[in-house]
Amino acid sequence: MTAALEQSATQPELREVPAGFENAHADLTKYRAMYAESIADPDGFWGREGQRLDWIKPYTKVKNTDFTFGQVNIKWFEDGVLNVAYNCIDRHLPTRANQTAIIFEPDDPATPAQHITYRQLSENVNRMANVLLSQGVMRGDRVVIYLPMIPEAAYAMLACARIGAIHSIVFAGFSPDALANRINDCGAKLVITADTAPRGGRRTPLKSNTDAALLHCSDKVRCLVVKHTGDQIHWMQGRDVDLKALMEHASPECPPRPMGAEDPLFILYTSGSTGKPKGVVHTSGGYLVYASMTHQYTFDYQDGDVFWCTADVGWVTGHSYIVYGPLANGATTIMFEGVPTYPDAGRFWEVCAKHKVTQFYTAPTAIRSLMGQGPEWVEKHDLSSLRVLGSVGEPINPEAWVWYDRHVGKGRCPIVDTFWQTETGGHMITPLPGATATKPGSATTPFFGVKPVVLDPQTGRRIGETECDGVLCVSDSWPGQMRTLWGDHERFQEAYFGQYRGYYFTGDGCRRDADGYYWITGRVDDVINVSGHRMGTAEVESALVAHAQVAEAAVVGYPHDIKGQGIYAYVTLMNGVEPSEELRKDLVKWVRTEIGPIASPDLIQWAPGLPKTRSGKIMRRILRKIAENDFGSLGDISTLADPSVVQDLIDNRMNRG
Ligand code: PRX
Repeated sequence: MTAALEQSATQPELREVPAGFENAHADLTKYRAMYAESIADPDGFWGREGQRLDWIKPYTKVKNTDFTFGQVNIKWFEDGVLNVAYNCIDRHLPTRANQTAIIFEPDDPATPAQHITYRQLSENVNRMANVLLSQGVMRGDRVVIYLPMIPEAAYAMLACARIGAIHSIVFAGFSPDALANRINDCGAKLVITADTAPRGGRRTPLKSNTDAALLHCSDKVRCLVVKHTGDQIHWMQGRDVDLKALMEHASPECPPRPMGAEDPLFILYTSGSTGKPKGVVHTSGGYLVYASMTHQYTFDYQDGDVFWCTADVGWVTGHSYIVYGPLANGATTIMFEGVPTYPDAGRFWEVCAKHKVTQFYTAPTAIRSLMGQGPEWVEKHDLSSLRVLGSVGEPINPEAWVWYDRHVGKGRCPIVDTFWQTETGGHMITPLPGATATKPGSATTPFFGVKPVVLDPQTGRRIGETECDGVLCVSDSWPGQMRTLWGDHERFQEAYFGQYRGYYFTGDGCRRDADGYYWITGRVDDVINVSGHRMGTAEVESALVAHAQVAEAAVVGYPHDIKGQGIYAYVTLMNGVEPSEELRKDLVKWVRTEIGPIASPDLIQWAPGLPKTRSGKIMRRILRKIAENDFGSLGDISTLADPSVVQDLIDNRMNRG
C-alpha cells in the first residue's frame, strides 16, 4: 500500500466528485436546492415527484403523517389510485418492448444468461397473475414467495402486485421453521417455491423445506412449484401445483387491478431487538415513488445503463433495487443466482465485464472477503463500463472502501455508501454521484425529504451542534417509510416511536462531523448485523434454549474481520450435561435448522453462570465486552447477583484476537 493510501485508510479525506459526472441528475447546487425545497415544502416537492408514476386516479392529497406517540399515522398520496406492476411494466411497452428488463445470470457460468425483454416480462407476469387468480388468490390475500434468485421471483412479486395480492418473500436460506412462522403470521393463502436452489455449486432443497414447513400450517395453504433444476421432489396431489405448466396455458393478458396508494404492496419480515421477527408493511404509491427516485438519483441511473444489485430478493435491497426501483425506471436490471466466489473469486468482475455493468451495488462483507483473495481477481477483467459503485447493509470500513475505489472503480467511480433499512423502503443517507464529495466510511448526507436528527441516548434531547455523537432518529416522514407491522400497529409504535417521542428511531448509533456528514456507528439495540444480514440476538437465544440440553443462553455480536459482526453465544447447559466438542457442533447445527445458516453461532462459550442483576436481568453490556475481548473496563459489576461468574467467563473467553 502506498503511504497516501495508508493515510486515507485511517484519515477520512474528502474525495471530490470525479470527472465525467457533469450531466448527472444532480450536482451539488441542485442537490442543495432540491433538498431545501423537500424539507420546506414536502407537499409541493413530493406532489411533483409523485408524477414520476402513472396514476389511474391522480392524488389530490400528498402528505398526511403524524409521528405523535399513540397516534402514529403515515399516509402518502392517499386518495391516488395506481397499479405497481403497470408502472413497472406496461407503461414502458410503447417505447421499451424489446429492451432487456432483466438479465438473469445463472449460478453456473456455463449456463447461458437470459435476456428478458419488457414484452417477455409482461407476458410472464400476466400469465403468472392469471395462475394466481385461478388458484383463488384475491386482492389483499397474502402470498409467500420462497424462491431462488431466478426470474420467476420477480414475476411472482409483480404478479401479486398486478392483482392486488400482498407478497411476503422469505429468503431461501431460511429454515422450514422460519418459513412456517412467516406463512402463519401473515396468514398466507399459498406459497410459491422451486424444486431446488443452486448456489455456489450446491443445492438448497427448497421444496422439501416447504413440505416440512407446511406440516405446521393450515392444510388449506397451496404450494406452487417452479420446476427449476428438475431435481426429484416429493409431490402432494391436491396441494402442489406445477407453476410453469399452468403458466404455459394461461393467458398472457391480465388487466392490472386499480389499487389505492395506501394498499399494502408487500410484507417483509425482519429481526427486531426482542421477540419474533416483525412483518414490516410497505404500501404501493409512496414506496414506489421513493424506490424509483432513489434508484435514479443515488446511482445516477441513465437510460441504457445496466444496473446490478447483488443482493437477494429475500431482503429489502432486492425488493427496492433489483425489482421495483429499476423496473419503475424502465431500467435493465441483473438477477444473479450465484455467489461472489463461485466458481472462483473473480465471478463478480467476470459478470460485470460480460454484461457491461454500469452501476454495481454490493455489501461490505463481500468486498472484504474478495479483498482477502487479492486484487489479481479483479484485474483479470475489463471493468471499464463501471460508472458508480454502491455499498449497503453495514458500515463500510475505510480499508474496504479504499480497496473498492482503487481496484474496482480505478479511482474514477464515485462510491455511494447508502444507509437505510427494511423499514425505510429506500436510501436515507447517501452520497449522490455528481453532487457529493465522499469520505471513506461515511454515508455522507441525507436524501431528499429525509430529516435526520442525532439525539442524546440518555436524555433523548436533540443534539444541536453540527459535531455530535448519539443515536440516529428521523423527525418527519418520507414516502418510502413503512406504515405498520403486519397485524400489530401497537408494536410498530412501541418499537419505532416509543423510545424517543416524536421521532422515528432507527436503532443505530451515529456521529455527525464538522461538515455535517453522518457516520453510522452500528446498532445500539440487540440487533446484530452478520454479513449485512440482520439478526435479532433474542431469536438465536430462543433457538438455543429450545435444545433439550440447554438451560440458558445469551447471544451478542463481536467484531469479525469479514462478516462485520459474528455471533457469540454463551450457553449454560442443563444440570448433569457435560460440555463437549460434539455438543458444540450439534448446537450450531441445531440453530441452522431452527432459523437458517445465517444464524449459526461463530463462537459458543460454555457458561456455568451468566452475569445477572439481583432481579434476574442478564447484563449484556458485560457479555458484549468479554466477547469483544475488551474486559478491562467492565464498569460496575457490584450489582450482580454473583459477581464471580464474570471472572470465569473472562478466563474461558473464546475471542482472544
Ligand atoms: O445498522 C444499519 C445497517 O443495517 C441496518 C438495517 O438492516 P436491514 O433492515 O436488514 O437493511 C439492510 C439493507 C438496507 C441498519 O439499521 N446498515 C444498512 N446500511 C448501512 C448500515 N450501516 C452503516 N452503513 C450503511 N450504509
